[in-house]
Amino acid sequence: MKNKSMRAFTPSQIVNELDKYIIGQTEAKRAVAIALRNRWRRQQVPAELREEILPNNIILIGPTGVGKTEIARRLAKLAEAPFIKVEASKFTEVGYVGRDVESMIRDLADYAVNMVKSEKTAQVQSHAEELADEKILDLLIPPVKKSVGLTENNEGEVNNEAFQNQKTREWMKQKLKSGEMNDKMVEFDANSQNSIGMQVLGPFGLDDLGINFQEIMGNIMPKKKKKRKTTISEARKIIAQEEAQKLIDMEAVQKEAIDRVQDSGIIFIDEIDKVAGGGKGQGPDVSREGVQRDLLPIVEGSNVNTKYGVVKTDHILFIASGAFHVSKPSDLIPELQGRFPIRVELKSLTQEDFVKILTMPENALLKQYNALLETEGVKLEFTPDAIKEIARIASEVNEQVENIGARRLHTILTTLLDEILFDVPDKIPNEKVKITAKSVKQKLDSIVKNRDLSKFIL
Ligand SMILES: Nc1ncnc2c1ncn2[C@@H]1O[C@H](COP(=O)(O)OP(=O)(O)OP(=O)(O)O)[C@@H](O)[C@H]1O
Ligand SMILES: [Mg+2]
Repeated sequence: MKNKSMRAFTPSQIVNELDKYIIGQTEAKRAVAIALRNRWRRQQVPAELREEILPNNIILIGPTGVGKTEIARRLAKLAEAPFIKVEASKFTEVGYVGRDVESMIRDLADYAVNMVKSEKTAQVQSHAEELADEKILDLLIPPVKKSVGLTENNEGEVNNEAFQNQKTREWMKQKLKSGEMNDKMVEFDANSQNSIGMQVLGPFGLDDLGINFQEIMGNIMPKKKKKRKTTISEARKIIAQEEAQKLIDMEAVQKEAIDRVQDSGIIFIDEIDKVAGGGKGQGPDVSREGVQRDLLPIVEGSNVNTKYGVVKTDHILFIASGAFHVSKPSDLIPELQGRFPIRVELKSLTQEDFVKILTMPENALLKQYNALLETEGVKLEFTPDAIKEIARIASEVNEQVENIGARRLHTILTTLLDEILFDVPDKIPNEKVKITAKSVKQKLDSIVKNRDLSKFIL
């Protein structure tokens, strides 16, 4: 059980899970599902062979706004795997010469450390809360000195100081736990953050040396205590957090984070098509081929220094994506092509897809707006015809102006709902708002017909 975080979904279960959020794009879902399951399978293979099995890196090809990033993002969530997204094109920009391609591995390591740390924090949380309660009790009812002894030293004499103190503490503890004391104020010593100066020193690339500067400085500078006065409920939170920090073994966290990055990390490289094709972009940019050459060792597997230790990149899963309007995957340097053996094409979304995207995913846009307005006590209702009409308009504008895929639905809905969102709750208190095909037309038709206007608004 080296990697508890990787849950063992079967490929079809993975596709089912992705279906909850992404409409269509079955081929792409299948490809990522296989890639993810293969990593799990690899973990089960005997060690000697395991090292030989390489991840099935994938290139997702498709126009903008059809779900490429969304698929990768949901996949990472599902796998509970460390995940970051980078734009390949940013490495061609001038300013990035110093900030090399390896930085993505460091970012992934940072992500993983935070992830493991918050999991560990959750595990020790209740223990930390207990400790915090004890600390607050100490403030409210300082314990009596040990020398007095807690036992009933004079027989029958139960009334000694220690016993009373204990009893009062028990009583107070109940009050603390019940929340009765929440609004009372206490003063306590909090660890003040000694992060002064760190931000200034941060960007100079000390990371690159594999040095955890913050930790070094943190150890040199004495931890300052600062008196703070807050409500008891706030103090419980602060002290519990501090106690949790003490309970967590950061070294173990970092080690586990590195393991996770190596065995289950996923890096999504967006806009890979922008670095395909040789030659330079305009101006003094780094050559595109140069970026590909920099990417190569990382994708092929190399050791990268991070402040938590060395990360081997051999088994990180890379999912690249791009529209490939101008260039083709075959314009990538051959070595890189070889490292991305799986290519899947995502389809343009149709009007029917839009209807489904509006309503079916668990985070569907209409559900989001419904939830938003429900907080004001307003019920938003879209008739099926209205939804069809929105989808139709989205397709039309995508065709006429520019195809931005499902993102078009966002712009259309904000325009459509603008008035309602503004008028609630002042003008439409406690009501049902029904949106029909007619009201959609009324609101949007004139904008759609006017191409110049729709360029700006929709
Ligand atoms: N097939 C789909 N099903 C459900 N929602 C989708 C689908 N495609 C896109 N969306 C929604 O549209 C938005 C944009 O999608 P996404 O970020 O995946 O685009 P993309 O394909 O990565 O585009 P780009 O090439 O511009 O990066 C997201 O909010 C996503 O929820
Ligand atoms: Mg994207």
